[in-house]
Amino acid sequence: MKISDRIASISRLDLVGAATPLQKLERLSRMLGRDIYIKRDDTTPLAFGGNKLRKLEFLAADALRLGADTLVTAGAIQSNHVRQTAAVAARLGLRCHALLENPIDTTDIDYLHSGNRLLLDLFGAHGEPVASLHDADAQLQSLAERLRGDGHKPYVIPIGGSNPLGALGYVHAGLELAQQADAMGISFSAVVLASGSAGTHGGMALALAHAMPETQVIGVTVSRTVEAQAPKVTGLIDGTADLLDVEVPAGLRLELWDEYFLPRYGEPNQAALEAIRLLARTEGVLLDPVYTGKAMAGLLDGVTHKRFDGSGPLLFLHTGGAPALFAYRDALQARPS
Ligand SMILES: Cc1ncc(COP(=O)(O)O)c(C=O)c1O
Repeated sequence: MKISDRIASISRLDLVGAATPLQKLERLSRMLGRDIYIKRDDTTPLAFGGNKLRKLEFLAADALRLGADTLVTAGAIQSNHVRQTAAVAARLGLRCHALLENPIDTTDIDYLHSGNRLLLDLFGAHGEPVASLHDADAQLQSLAERLRGDGHKPYVIPIGGSNPLGALGYVHAGLELAQQADAMGISFSAVVLASGSAGTHGGMALALAHAMPETQVIGVTVSRTVEAQAPKVTGLIDGTADLLDVEVPAGLRLELWDEYFLPRYGEPNQAALEAIRLLARTEGVLLDPVYTGKAMAGLLDGVTHKRFDGSGPLLFLHTGGAPALFAYRDALQARPS
């Protein structure tokens, strides 16, 4: 059975609807002398969009199947994943309870209260501060235990929605992308995306190894070195292939770039801030300071330093995150030196 038939047999809520747009960035392409396209997963149709809605199509379907009444998850105070999970919970009439950490130890009022954090309150989610998510899976299990004790039926979603079931969202997205590329007659040299909890990267790499094997999938890390990130992505590729009962194609080559995430997760660097300004001013596209700004900085540097195989068009997967711009007002308003 083909991978598309396999995935169609797994239960999924239709939250994303139509395919997200695949567009050419005309002015940026002219500026770089290379064709750059963008897939607009930042425009998925719930609560300012983003990649997590695709994972939640599968995860929330599973939660409903099991009779859950509460979605339980965790992330940074400015987590896009938690914001989208809270919105899906609201949409489905479920409660949402999230453990929230402050990964950059900041007292910045915008970070603590605006952006994604403000939206959690609007969705009626309960955010519970924790000193750190040092053992997030265990911390989520103990929260679920507590909620069960109070008579609730929690469904635990790991950080970033990145388990094999959640990664199916990006297998689905990868097959959607392959259809769009085929219909437009484009053969991409590479897809560039932000690689964090790794479900987006793992799902996309597996789908494209089946459906667009000539295209490299490059994950720009946002929190880890290649050595630390590689087992996370590979584990998800293997687990997702098992869940679908498909092969991991022998030609699948893991590509990770870790030169763009410093100083650390959640703290933007100069190249990311410049990439955000560049995309805003040349294309009217909003990137974010934590994920897509750093991934775009990688793409731009990759073009400059000829890091891509081949000279064909490149695709940037825009995974969302713009609500966090409001939490990083200080960094964005500081004048570049
Ligand atoms: C805007 C944005 N882009 C990319 C990612 C990374 O996706 P993943 O966690 O699946 O690696 C995230 C994860 O939170 C995100 O919020």
